[in-house]
Amino acid sequence: MSGKIIVTGGAGYIGSHTVVELSKAGYQPIIIDNFANAEKRAVEGINQILNTEVTCYEGDCGDADFMEGILTKESSVAGIIHFAADKAVGESVEQPLKYYKNNIGSLLTLLEVMPKHRIPMLVFSSSCTVYGQPDQLPVTESTPKKPAESPYGNTKQIGEEMIEDVVKSKVPMKAIALRYFNPIGAHPTAKIGELPLGVPNNLVPYVTQAATGKLEKITVFGDDYDTPDGTCVRDYIHVVDLAKAHVSAIRYLEQQDSKSLFDIFNIGTGHGNTVLEVIKTFEEVSHVPLNYTIGPRRTGDVEKVYADVSKANNVLHWKAEQSLADALRDAWHWQQTLS
Ligand code: UFG
Repeated sequence: MSGKIIVTGGAGYIGSHTVVELSKAGYQPIIIDNFANAEKRAVEGINQILNTEVTCYEGDCGDADFMEGILTKESSVAGIIHFAADKAVGESVEQPLKYYKNNIGSLLTLLEVMPKHRIPMLVFSSSCTVYGQPDQLPVTESTPKKPAESPYGNTKQIGEEMIEDVVKSKVPMKAIALRYFNPIGAHPTAKIGELPLGVPNNLVPYVTQAATGKLEKITVFGDDYDTPDGTCVRDYIHVVDLAKAHVSAIRYLEQQDSKSLFDIFNIGTGHGNTVLEVIKTFEEVSHVPLNYTIGPRRTGDVEKVYADVSKANNVLHWKAEQSLADALRDAWHWQQTLS
């Protein structure tokens, strides 16, 4: 058995899939979640998939006393994968301080407690939102960052910079920021998946809920972009592929002799798909026709963004394996367990 890996936000969408992949790879994942934007059923789903009971602490990873208590109890933690964060772009514009407090505050706490408890590795959830609308596609890790469009996006930029500064200060910490493109899909067992609160903001949960009839119709936000069919282009990655990237990141960090390092990787498929391609592919895999109309552009949307993933392929030896159709099929199976 390899080391203990704390997964903050381990009951959330990407966190829960990562807990499963860590365990399958021989690590001992430990979930920390305050269940503010996650449900206990995610932990039950993880336990069913793994046929074991994963350790789970309920609480806020931004609470230094709570973290001290866990780290005193759980000795020799090998690393932390930090997912716990608020993630609704629109909400962050309305409640910026909630985002700065939760997203920056939790990272700050972790960066303080990690050296104290000799935890050498950190993987941080970042986002392709740091690129804004890039001047050149696909985006590489050295593509210049654009000023953040939202407080949420700003917390990802600041988070990366905080980690980099801590590493530069020669604190013994090996850290990676993974810049996710658009995670979609669910576990193929349909035991875990995305559980959006209220009406979803993101395309795929909106599509799957529209397919069940829970939502009346999908509005495609604009069809006059400079793209093959006029709708926005994104790099949609299966959440299980994304989860596996975290295992690869941990493995890579374990292998590095340097005591202090910081690196950044794009995690996507390397391919862009339009909104209409997502809708069409969903209809093909689900055999459910979708009711959609074209509406105005959504404020803040970038026209097109997709990843150059050669750095993750070559350095982390990781590659997305699943197709858009695979991800949409799994998203649909998961949705059917909910309705
Ligand atoms: N879209 C629609 N109709 C909908 C919902 C979305 O047409 O009802 C379109 C959007 O305009 C966009 C595409 O579907 O073109 C994808 O939208 P999502 O909301 O699913 O994803 P975004 O790319 O806007 O946002 C995602 C994450 C953010 C992250 C951002 C980085 O949700 O957390 O990528 O670019 F910041």
